[in-house]
Amino acid sequence: MTHPQVYSPELDTYLLLECSLQELRPGDRVLEVGTGSGYIASRLIRETGIVATDINPFAVKEARELGVDVVRTDLMDGLCGQFEMILFNPPYLPTQPEERIPDWLEYALDGGVSGREVITRFAAQVGRVLAPGGRILLLVSSLTGIHEVGEIFRGLGYDLSMTGQREAFEETLVVLKITRRE
Ligand SMILES: C[S@@+](CC[C@H](N)C(=O)[O-])C[C@H]1O[C@@H](n2cnc3c(N)ncnc32)[C@H](O)[C@@H]1O
Repeated sequence: MTHPQVYSPELDTYLLLECSLQELRPGDRVLEVGTGSGYIASRLIRETGIVATDINPFAVKEARELGVDVVRTDLMDGLCGQFEMILFNPPYLPTQPEERIPDWLEYALDGGVSGREVITRFAAQVGRVLAPGGRILLLVSSLTGIHEVGEIFRGLGYDLSMTGQREAFEETLVVLKITRRE
């Protein structure tokens, strides 16, 4: 059972894991940003080398207990090296300031007023740790604005395609595969 302040694996987690296993190539170095409970990373450890990050200290502790090499940091701050596959199931819910709850679980859900605030910061920074020819798998919801997320990455010189989709309660979940434009 996960700590009450750590995001429990949900449909979005399972969809991102499924797509990651399909996309994984031999020898890939993998980074999972925002690993939460470590569910995805601990499964991928069986296939490849993986490093993870999370901002939530309870998540870091929990994922480490599953054997995941986790760094407590904001997004990819302080990481050196590059990765062929980068995964992120970000906080994506549009959240008004008055809706915010002052605890660590809030980091799992709160995407700012647009739902895209963390994604926008991630998009601006991820190129530094993306290996040549590497790909990003990003979980996004219809609540976040899938088209708008695409525009953010396109504007930064990336191409996108959809690699997974699942209907959930009142939202559609998709996994975007994002690569640098040739
Ligand atoms: C929706 S949860 C996903 C957790 C897990 N990857 C999964 O799929 O079940 C988002 C995770 O991102 C983490 N997170 C949010 N903002 C972050 C940031 N700026 N830097 C690092 N991790 C962050 C949260 O603490 C949370 O664990």
